[in-house]
Amino acid sequence: MQQRLQKILAMMGITSRRKAEELILNGRVTVNGQLAQLGMKADPKKDHIKVDGKILIKPEPKIYLALNKPKKVISSLHDPEGRTTIKDFLKGIKQRVFPIGRLDYDTEGLLLLTNDGELTQKILHPSYRIPKTYLVKIKGLIQENEIKKISQGVRLQDGLTLPAQVRLIKQNENNSWLEITIYEGRKRQVRRMFDAIGHPVIKLKRIAIDGIKLGDLKTGELRHLTEREVNKLKGL
Ligand code: URA
Repeated sequence: MQQRLQKILAMMGITSRRKAEELILNGRVTVNGQLAQLGMKADPKKDHIKVDGKILIKPEPKIYLALNKPKKVISSLHDPEGRTTIKDFLKGIKQRVFPIGRLDYDTEGLLLLTNDGELTQKILHPSYRIPKTYLVKIKGLIQENEIKKISQGVRLQDGLTLPAQVRLIKQNENNSWLEITIYEGRKRQVRRMFDAIGHPVIKLKRIAIDGIKLGDLKTGELRHLTEREVNKLKGL
């Protein structure tokens, strides 16, 4: 969050707000290498602020992680009911990271985590149609016309779903396995889509988000995203 520089300096206990103004006026403060001006705003989380050439505030490095969330794990950092949360899988990560979106308690697979609030907001914004791919095991033998229906859009309580890509992988006498890519992130969306055509989901696993693949990351394991993957998410 952007705040007035003199307020940041005072908050950091460097000096009083009035004295901080003097420091700024006397050209002793820089922000990202530029001489600070009175009234200037900065973000202590993002900007390098120096007084007399000494770094005062170093922005926390951004980290970007992929977790293969197991089933029966809550995708938040705390659960009032005391169930296992993703926090149990973040041992060794010093930064406070947050999940980008959610996976249901019973859904496994790829969950992205970061301390980059800006990127999280961008990705979760409804106008940003990020592709998310799932492997689904459903009850019954799905028919061609039902696959077409799912891919064109099904009516749910909260409206028609956007077109999705759906591919049948295999079937046996009781179940069908499919891959589905959706471009929105409504609550329990995939489960509700298949419920709506009479084929309840038995197993659901997210295998990709915007080209970032779960790959061979084992259940409960964590990895850092590559620079390339992060740039892709940022749209760079
Ligand atoms: N759709 C669902 O139904 N559940 C998830 O966890 C993600 C997408």
